[in-house]
Amino acid sequence: MSPEAASHLFVLFGGTGDLARRKLLPAVQRLSRDGLLQGRWAVLGVARRTDLDDAGYRAWVRQALRDAGVGEDELRHWCDDCLYYHSMGGDSDPADAYRALAARIEAIEARHELPGNRLFYLALPPRAFVGVLDGLGGQELLRGPGWTRVVVEKPIGHDLQSATELESHIHRWLDEEQVFRIDHYLGKETVQNLLVLRFGNAMFEALFNRQHVENVQITVAEDIGVEGRAGYYDRSGALRDMVQNHLTQLLTLIAMEVPAAYDAASVRYEKIKVLRSVRPLRPEHVVRGQYIATGDAPGYLDDPDVPEGSTTETFAALRLDVDNWRWQGVPFYLRTGKRLPRRVTEIAVVFRRPPVQLFESMRCTDVQNEALVLRLQPDEAFSLYLDVKRPGEPMRLERIPLDFDYAEHFEDFPDAYTTLLLDVVQGDQTLFVHHDEVVESWKLYSPLVEKAADRRVFTYAAGSWGPGEADLLLEREGHTWLTR
Ligand code: BG6
Repeated sequence: MSPEAASHLFVLFGGTGDLARRKLLPAVQRLSRDGLLQGRWAVLGVARRTDLDDAGYRAWVRQALRDAGVGEDELRHWCDDCLYYHSMGGDSDPADAYRALAARIEAIEARHELPGNRLFYLALPPRAFVGVLDGLGGQELLRGPGWTRVVVEKPIGHDLQSATELESHIHRWLDEEQVFRIDHYLGKETVQNLLVLRFGNAMFEALFNRQHVENVQITVAEDIGVEGRAGYYDRSGALRDMVQNHLTQLLTLIAMEVPAAYDAASVRYEKIKVLRSVRPLRPEHVVRGQYIATGDAPGYLDDPDVPEGSTTETFAALRLDVDNWRWQGVPFYLRTGKRLPRRVTEIAVVFRRPPVQLFESMRCTDVQNEALVLRLQPDEAFSLYLDVKRPGEPMRLERIPLDFDYAEHFEDFPDAYTTLLLDVVQGDQTLFVHHDEVVESWKLYSPLVEKAADRRVFTYAAGSWGPGEADLLLEREGHTWLTR
């Protein structure tokens, strides 16, 4: 990509928000530090705050970078002059406000001799999306002189209908090639490596099918609670907040067929096919849970911002079935929750046991199956669990992992937002969610979340692995969760 094609103005809506402070501005700093932002660039933070000007914003961003761990040495090379602030917090008529924003954008572009490439990042609550798109579209800001790309954060809708409405609004102003629906899980290194592991090595791919795989487990466990986000979370719950997007994205990558090429069209096409193959969910395959107080740890309902008697789930475990030739009959178990014993994200591919159990009586460990476990968090690693013979007599078998730990081999890991932001600048949509993925995923979960309130929510002790019913979901099939 030529420096001219990469030169751009980054217009950050929600420029003083939490995401900007914790993730997006540190990502810009890292890209600039590493020389990855080719060409010229500037950032325009847009927010409602009226007490900031450019100088105030530059100081605010510096503090945000410090808080994100950027050292004083690095801050010396940080480009303050590339940063601007524009307040949309006044009372002016929306058309006037967007006219003023358009003028500001053009002035900054002229000053930095930018070619009119614009990256709009909507780090905003979903209720604000439509107004911003209309405002930008109404001023022709989405059809600029160069490329225009818009990054949309989740959630895209809260059910099929609202997602479809929002999507048609997005397409009123933008072509699909301009829309970058972000799911930060896709930017994680191990997630990308999953594709390399599967399609860059012949060994595993040959085993990834119904003949050899008994079940697949995806666990995204968090030890934290809702941490001041109860207002949002209580209307969302684990199914909308995590399962419909992050966990389902992981499922598509683990289940997809080999794409024709490693590019956006081919990869996304294969992911969409997976979603279309998932059998409609059966209520008995879904377990919802909510954590209750244990010891000093408060329960979900103890949070002052959670409405009394709320039945929102903070935990969900599901069984999904992918009805295609490769995966027919192989259950995919998904599990996520807040206030679980530890923070861990793992995908476990559990292989079938050998058809003849020669060494059955000689095992020292309970776990019976070979398994490939890909760990995404807190460290990035994968382990292949195999049986080996313990030295000496009598003959005893022990289950051991062959481990690969990324940190032992590679030094610096870009964080997901850094990777994804660079992809937006380069116009690469491979790691972004396509319109059809949003629709197909909601087709799957909408019937479930619409009726969720009528269904039982089991309690679980804060700090445990969720309600016992989540274990039963697997035990009924003779399976157990590997991640503990
Ligand atoms: C977000 C959810 O999308 O992902 C949060 O809204 C959750 O509730 C977070 O805590 C988890 O992300 P990560 O990268 O910390 O696993």
